[in-house]
Amino acid sequence: MLTKEENERLTRVGRGAPAGELLRRYWMPVATARELSDENPTRFVRVLGEDLILFRDKSGNVGLIADHCAHRGASLLYGRVEERGIACAYHGWLYDTAGNCLECPAEPAGSMFHLTVKHKAYPVRAFVGLYWAYMGPLPAPEIPRYDAWADKELRRRITVRRIDCNWLQAMENSMDPAHLQILHQDAGTNADTGQPRDTTRGRTDDVASLEFYEVPYGIMKKRVYRNGLLDEHPLIFPNILRHQGTQIRAPIDDTHTMHYTVSVQLARDGEPEQDEDDIPVVESKPHKVPADALYPDARFTMADVAAQDYMAWETQGAIPDRTVERLATSDRGVVLFRQVLKREIERVEQGQDPLGVVRDPDHAVIDTKVVGWLKEYVGRPRNRAEDRRDPVRA
Ligand code: FES
Ligand SMILES: [Fe+2]
Repeated sequence: MLTKEENERLTRVGRGAPAGELLRRYWMPVATARELSDENPTRFVRVLGEDLILFRDKSGNVGLIADHCAHRGASLLYGRVEERGIACAYHGWLYDTAGNCLECPAEPAGSMFHLTVKHKAYPVRAFVGLYWAYMGPLPAPEIPRYDAWADKELRRRITVRRIDCNWLQAMENSMDPAHLQILHQDAGTNADTGQPRDTTRGRTDDVASLEFYEVPYGIMKKRVYRNGLLDEHPLIFPNILRHQGTQIRAPIDDTHTMHYTVSVQLARDGEPEQDEDDIPVVESKPHKVPADALYPDARFTMADVAAQDYMAWETQGAIPDRTVERLATSDRGVVLFRQVLKREIERVEQGQDPLGVVRDPDHAVIDTKVVGWLKEYVGRPRNRAEDRRDPVRA
């Protein structure tokens, strides 16, 4: 249980909010690489509660700047991209990717007025088929090269979904391994001992133990099955689940979250290396009907394993009231995650880098055990063919 104040502190993502300031110490995906093209060089994005325009100028530079023009507020989504940046469609104020105003064309000849204008702009990088933004204090850290993103043995693909709730439910779910055997009981796991005894317990009795321990980049979740199978996959702090790939939860605002899945498979023998700039983006099916409706008007497509999770997160509420929850023994991973989150928010408040921030551009690939996990855990035959196709189960 949290107090109302603690719940606010851990959930709110805006600038100045404690969790918002923590999240601004990490790179956030804002779009897939395919979402900018010569035909569509600008894109509106909302991330961490800020309205921004992602654009690619005619020199190939990619920028992320505040949506409303510094002059009189027209949207830069309609700006004209040029060699030097993006020119507001209304009066032509021209901005480069750093937010410098290079020209105010309606000012008198020789005016230096444009030098007094500085527009909000954030660094952008392209990596694993996504554009990433860094919205915290400079200098920006590195985008960590986790094995799931950097290991050459893996082949990747991307799916993107919008979830209509706060980011923290998704992360708490990643520290809640007990739900797998109940919520997802119809899908089964590699460790099934047969059909669920009943629908209340699901496959709970297949599990011998659940443990959690901190690692340099987050928290490892360890599930040992009665048949000896070991399932270890971590939460990469603060907003990523490493599973069969990574599920990156990028807050749109306090009550919406963009869910980027970069799923991975082991390369087949002789399969050529993947072009980092051309990672396939798989269209995702709506997880509820109507797709844009909220609970209780929406019905979740419960035959889909991922939708089962999204049902659980969204129906907890836009931001759940954690003053009335009843945590039990099986929630100790959730409790640990909240403790770590509180601790790391305090580190940011003390001016330190929080957990998992990487500053060495030449750092070694970070081993989250994904390759071994794929070979040992996912590689074994599953009970049902459809499970082998599902890369997103948490
Ligand atoms: S509102 Fe953008 S140039 Fe005037
Ligand atoms: Fe799940």
